[in-house]
Amino acid sequence: MADRKRLPIIAGNWKMNKTLSEARHLALEVKNGTLAVADQVEVVICPPFTALAGVAEVIKGSNVKLGAQNCHWENSGAFTGEISPIMLKEIGCEYVIVGHSERRQYFGETDEMVAKKAKALLGHGLRPIICVGERLEQREQGMTKDVIRSQVIGSLKGIESEEMLQTVIAYEPVWAIGTGKTASPEQAQEVHAFIRNLLSDMYGLEVALKVRIQYGGSVKPSNIAALMAEADIDGALVGGASLDGTSFVEIVSFKSKGNA
Ligand code: PGA
Repeated sequence: MADRKRLPIIAGNWKMNKTLSEARHLALEVKNGTLAVADQVEVVICPPFTALAGVAEVIKGSNVKLGAQNCHWENSGAFTGEISPIMLKEIGCEYVIVGHSERRQYFGETDEMVAKKAKALLGHGLRPIICVGERLEQREQGMTKDVIRSQVIGSLKGIESEEMLQTVIAYEPVWAIGTGKTASPEQAQEVHAFIRNLLSDMYGLEVALKVRIQYGGSVKPSNIAALMAEADIDGALVGGASLDGTSFVEIVSFKSKGNA
């Protein structure tokens, strides 16, 4: 196994799923199921906005951390339908996913918007999970690294070294999200190493070696250990498989299987 200097971080992105009562139930399963690995893996769950406060109550005092799936960059104002970093902070969020490919694809989020959101979050002591990833046709045209380079540079605009240490990057190839088609550990590792090199150019090696880079895209109990065995894969952002308590707990407990 790779020499793991970084604490793994596994986050469940529940997307637009779970009513408040369903969310509380799932949060309880995650809380109870991950007790044994509390000091080995950082566990984050990201319910929809309507369930954040209820889930915060359920996981209070446990090792499970709360994350949101999006935010605006302003603190308040005439932005109908938006949620601000200070609102998320008060509720108890520690992490916020920004720039998920679904936000980029369906809601027109640009790297510039992602950078503004990440900067605003960091200013409030919240940690952004910044998502990047290429689409299938971009991979097929050999453009993966160009796409990732431009997304990473654009999404981190204005973020200082100290802030970078609080930031998580999620590499999520769009073709692997919700498709059941996972990137192979080697394919993922290649891009993760590329991102870490880029971070080293931007922030220096010391910072780059500390930043955690998650893989996302059809992560499940059967493939997590092989992904985590790669040197630059520091965790996972899990969609579909995080909606079932048993499978998410199994993913978080990848080490206990003795194969990673
Ligand atoms: P998936 O989603 O695990 O369902 O592929 C991952 C994500 O979109 O974060």
